[in-house]
Amino acid sequence: MSELIRFGVSLPEDLLKKFDEHISRNGYSNRSEAMRDLIREDLVHQQWSHGTEVAGAITVVYDHHQRGLLNRITALQHDWQHLILCSQHIHLDHHNCLEILAVKGPAENVSALANSLKAVKGIKHATLNMTSTGHGIE
Ligand code: NI
Repeated sequence: MSELIRFGVSLPEDLLKKFDEHISRNGYSNRSEAMRDLIREDLVHQQWSHGTEVAGAITVVYDHHQRGLLNRITALQHDWQHLILCSQHIHLDHHNCLEILAVKGPAENVSALANSLKAVKGIKHATLNMTSTGHGIE
């Protein structure tokens, strides 16, 4: 971890009031910790938009009774296996399955994988949780 540096920040009073509301709503102990998180959030956003290596989780919910659907989902995962670190399949009830894929790779490829899964007919819901490999965000 690098050395902590103090610096002053000037903000319009109303903006600071909103920031303090954000801090108390989200349970931060102080402004510094909240500001560090906002900066990291922006850095992660930049990693995703600049095609850096990123990490994330893709979640998919579907009814496994749909004809051919499991085969399509499995085929896609084999096509993109170099991005998928591991997957977990949870049987939610008689019909519905939740699959969670831990992914890592170039941002555009991870996004393409998530979009391909979202586009599979029969998938009820798919999300991509965009996070970082932890590099470059201190
Ligand atoms: Ni299942």
